[in-house]
Amino acid sequence: MAQLRDGFQSRLGFVLAAAGAAVGLGNIWGFPTQAANHGGGAFLLVYFIVIFLLALPALYTELYLGHQAQSNPVNALRQAWKEKAPKIGAGAGYLGLLGAIIMLSFYSIVAGWMLAFSLEPLSRLFGFEQASEFLKSDSTLRNFIFTPLMLLLTASIILKGVKSGIETWSRRLMPMLLLLLIALIAYIATLDGASEGFSAYLVPDFSKVTDPDLVIAAMGQAFFSLSLGVGCMMIYGSYLKPNENLPKLTLSVAALDTGVAFLAGLLIVPAIFVAQHNGVEVFQDGKLVGEGRLIFAVLPELFSSMGAIGLWVGLTFFVLMSIASVTSTISSTEIPVSFLVESHGMQRKGATWLVTAIVFSVSSTIIVNFEWLFGLVITLLTQYQLPLMGLFYFVTVGWIWKRGNQLSLECKGAHYWFAQYVRFVCPILMTAVFLNVAFK
Ligand code: ALA
Repeated sequence: MAQLRDGFQSRLGFVLAAAGAAVGLGNIWGFPTQAANHGGGAFLLVYFIVIFLLALPALYTELYLGHQAQSNPVNALRQAWKEKAPKIGAGAGYLGLLGAIIMLSFYSIVAGWMLAFSLEPLSRLFGFEQASEFLKSDSTLRNFIFTPLMLLLTASIILKGVKSGIETWSRRLMPMLLLLLIALIAYIATLDGASEGFSAYLVPDFSKVTDPDLVIAAMGQAFFSLSLGVGCMMIYGSYLKPNENLPKLTLSVAALDTGVAFLAGLLIVPAIFVAQHNGVEVFQDGKLVGEGRLIFAVLPELFSSMGAIGLWVGLTFFVLMSIASVTSTISSTEIPVSFLVESHGMQRKGATWLVTAIVFSVSSTIIVNFEWLFGLVITLLTQYQLPLMGLFYFVTVGWIWKRGNQLSLECKGAHYWFAQYVRFVCPILMTAVFLNVAFK
């Protein structure tokens, strides 16, 4: 007899867990950095269009594949391709697993920085100056301490399973994250220079809207932010009870993720301008200095320029980032863990430790080759693998999967039009974005 699968207990639990998977460094670190680098409001506008036209249907498609299969991504895709070429389906599932491991590997490095920067204000509070310098330093040793710490934190939640681990902790952490974010925006908005940041963020520069680089950056960011293309949403969809209203839940998850990204921009972009107002050099030739590492350079400096309160603001900010990281790392860890448990009969405990060890070895490779490997891995994964996997899911649901697919051409009403949209419009739009970059 089939073993009863663990799963989400409530709709709210699912929405918070899936939104927790989606909301992460991508929203609070990636999105504002991309917006600041790609014309502020122009990026925002293109991002919203991409979310609506492509990422939202991709989110639905991925959740739907998992929800129908009630199984891990390798099985779900194998099943969908059963009549045509099961090996291709399973192969794509394995590629997703690999993507999840790679994503976790670089993600936990950055998540480790967040943890280190959360402890830094405390070390100053207690007068440990040397520890404070170490926590701020950009050192390999710091990475080798905090990356495994983040992985252990993630493993401790995954070990508890879906309902008691993922759902319970997402329900606790997500509301906390939203409150911290709003409190920080309210505070930064009162500082000199913030209003300049608000206009840079909110007013689009229309001359940049059609730039192919901006469009592909927005697409990669949207897919990364919604955790699409590696199977996160497929596995969470599979833990949802079969009779749930998937379209409604999909909209809630996408709205929360996009809302948090937008709010994070309202925090980070004005904070960058406040820092500039305080004499910190943040832009060079229209681009942010230090690329993605800017917030680690600019924000701590900004926090310390605020005097005593800066310590608490800094602590709040980096705790917020650490929470956002953990709700995302648990979702990526769950993909290979569920695969090992369901398809290879492993115990959850053994599977969790095996995945943690594999991720740590890939993270270590990135740490020791940081200069050339870190950025490369992020670009390849976010701008290419994730959207291409999204394209694969569209083709799977639109063209390949026949028996049992309720988004087939025989369906009626809105389902019919959505099936047509997934079949024709999404693949064409995505291909156009890629060609646009290839021939620019
Ligand atoms: N979706 C996760 C994030 O945005 C990976 O950080």
